[in-house]
Amino acid sequence: MEQEDKRLVLTGFMGVGKSTVARHLSYLTKYKKIDLDDFIEEQEERKIPEIIETDGLDYFRSVETDRLKQILEETEARVISLGGGAWTTKENREIIKSYECTSVWLESTFDHCWRNIRFSKRVRPLVKDKQSAKKLFEQRQNDYCLADWHFVINPGHNSFEVAKQIAQEIFLVEIN
Ligand code: S3P
Repeated sequence: MEQEDKRLVLTGFMGVGKSTVARHLSYLTKYKKIDLDDFIEEQEERKIPEIIETDGLDYFRSVETDRLKQILEETEARVISLGGGAWTTKENREIIKSYECTSVWLESTFDHCWRNIRFSKRVRPLVKDKQSAKKLFEQRQNDYCLADWHFVINPGHNSFEVAKQIAQEIFLVEIN
């Protein structure tokens, strides 16, 4: 694949900062970005918590897969930030691979993610309490590990710097 066609998906646990890194990355590279959760909400004309509450998690996961395909098939987006669960299904990982996307895991500690989850305004229906969130975090590490690239993002790491690193190392963009 030519460098100018390269597309990237960002994955990682809730609260790690995928959307923020994607925004910085899009700013730095000028490549179009799409946030899968935002795209789902626009297309469904309702918020994710409402989708899950009304139609259930299985329904949400099937919509997530359909919309992921749609983004990859129909849009020019080269920076795609996934919801934290999207990468954890084999079907989605295979779709991402079939479109030759580079996958990036934003890796962090549970405490870092948990702090962001607690202080965020975003409602996350899969996070009921700290204990169950930690269990989910631990269960998912093996899936996230399958991503092509890993970048550590922690309180000491400025997300703009992480985006810069990704832009330089993956998109080979020169940034002064
Ligand atoms: C989910 C993460 C959320 C959203 C949904 C399910 C998950 O996205 O897709 O609530 O299963 O981890 P963020 O990772 O952006 O919070």
